[in-house]
Parts: sequence; structure tokens; C-alpha cells
Amino acid sequence: MMEHNLVAEINRLRKERNAIILAHNYQVPEVQDIADIVGDSYALSKHAANTKNQVIVFCGVHFMAESAKILSPDKTVLLPAKDAGCPMADMVTAEGLREMKEKYPEAAVVTYVNSSAEVKAESDICCTSSNAVKVVQSIKNKQIIFAPDENLGSYIASKVKDKELILWRGFCITHKRVRTSEVAKVRELYPDAKILVHPECEPEVQAMADFLGSTSEIIKYAGELTEKNIIIGTEEGILHTLKKQNPDKNFYLLSPGLICANMKKTRLEDVYYSLLNMQHQVEVDEEIRVKALNALNEMLKIS
Ligand code: 13P
Ligand code: SF4
Repeated sequence: MMEHNLVAEINRLRKERNAIILAHNYQVPEVQDIADIVGDSYALSKHAANTKNQVIVFCGVHFMAESAKILSPDKTVLLPAKDAGCPMADMVTAEGLREMKEKYPEAAVVTYVNSSAEVKAESDICCTSSNAVKVVQSIKNKQIIFAPDENLGSYIASKVKDKELILWRGFCITHKRVRTSEVAKVRELYPDAKILVHPECEPEVQAMADFLGSTSEIIKYAGELTEKNIIIGTEEGILHTLKKQNPDKNFYLLSPGLICANMKKTRLEDVYYSLLNMQHQVEVDEEIRVKALNALNEMLKIS
């Protein structure tokens, strides 16, 4: 089907199904363009929790759609690309986390939303990259187990000095690819540019950046900058919104490795088939869902 026909069909089905299409900032441009809402993990989970639409089409990766189902169990949540997962989320299991909890019985458990429902169910509270510092600051316990992103964990530890963070050793395979030598090179090439980086990057890379934030925080900060040249240290899908919103600025990707293969799995055709066949429906075991919901609600309460 031609792209304009596909878009027309998606629009027709979206109405017919009473669906909302949510897309993460890393999605391919044509998917972002047909979405009702494009945003970071936090904004999208808020929309998923509050939407009046009966169907949520989640253009992102599995843990995001699963979080939407946890928050809105009465809605039909569809993940257009069935095998779009997050390798970082797969680096922690509920069993592994239970073992860690036994080892540190005094510790509270803060889990990055990039995790499974089972792992969330073992946690006291969730966080996203935009509210992680605030979430950790809100906890009374001195000891905190933070899973699964070690890099985001060290970023939080650098901001919240009065807590002892026990870090799970997970990482994002995409952000981990950024090298300090690449940061040094762009500094040399564009001495007047600002470097905006996601906290999933390595601490050494974080230390060389001018700004650290979630994808939406990076978009907001870039819009406020007066500098014309801006270097982006997160997944390349974000460049679509950045360029659209700032036609007078130049954006450069910090590293050619900043492409998440899983975020690129959703094509316009997948969104169409998702709405046409009501596929692929995300389900969560009710006992797990209720526990995971508690951790997500704790996060939504404080941010
Ligand atoms: P945010 O949208 O919260 O910045 O998350 C980035 C990410 O890697 C999601 O997988
Ligand atoms: Fe997971 Fe990294 Fe891809 Fe985000 S960018 S979905 S953390 S692998």
C-alpha cells in the first residue's frame, strides 16, 4: 500500500476502534508523524494511565506497552511490532532481584521502567530517566537497590549523596556504544556546540556532557538553547522532533552507534495491521499486575 493510503487507513481505523496511538521519541519519523502523542517513557505512561480511548496502540518496546496495560487494565493495549523488546529490561529477572533483596534486607527497591512486570512487582517504586533523582530523594531508606541500569544508577548516585545505592549491572546496548573519544572529537570539531546526553550513557561520557536528561528533557533544553550547533547523545529517532521544532539549528548525533534496533522495528505497516487485526495484545497476569501497579503508582504520585 502507498504511504498516503496507509496513513488514511490508519486514520480510519483509529476512529473506528476508538484508539490512541502513542509513540516513543525513538520511533521512525513516519510513525511519529501519525501518532497522537510522541514523548518520553514518563509522558507516555501518564497518557496511557489517563486516556479515555478504549484501545492504546503503543509504538515503542514491550516494557512500555506492558506498563500501559498495568496502568490501564480495562483497555486493549497493542504492540504493533511483536518482537520489539528492550535488551536492558531483559538483564534483570524477578528471581535475581529477590536474591538481591535477601542480601540487602534494609534496602528499598527502585526499578527503572525499562523492566518487566514481574520485576516491577518486586519493587517499591519505579522511575524513568526524567524523575529518577526525585524518586530516589523521596525514599526514606538509606540503602537503595537500583535496577537494571547501572549508568542511570551512577548518575543518580552523583546527585543524591546521602543514599547508598546498590546498583544492578545492567546497561543499554545502544547508549553504551558511545565512546569518550567520540565526545572529544565532536568537542574539537564543534567547539561552540552544546552536548546533550542521556543518562543511559557511560559515566565517563556523562561527565563530558553539558546537559543530561531524558529524551523529552533533551528536546526541551535544545529548544531553549541559543547555540546553533547541538550534539545529541541519545538514540537518533529523537532528531526528527528536534529538527522539526528547531529548523534554524544544526543537530549532530554524538555517535553513529546510537540506533536502537528494537525501536526501529515498528513500521507504518505494523501500525496499520495492529489496528486492523487488533494485534499484538499485551496481557499481564493479574496478581503480578496489581503489585507492579503499586510501584508505578508510587512513581506517578511523586512526579
Ligand atoms: P526516556 O524516553 O525516558 O528518556 O527513555 C529512554 C529509553 O531508552 C527508553 O528505552
Ligand atoms: Fe532499551 Fe536502550 Fe533501546 Fe531504550 S534505547 S529500548 S534502553 S535498548
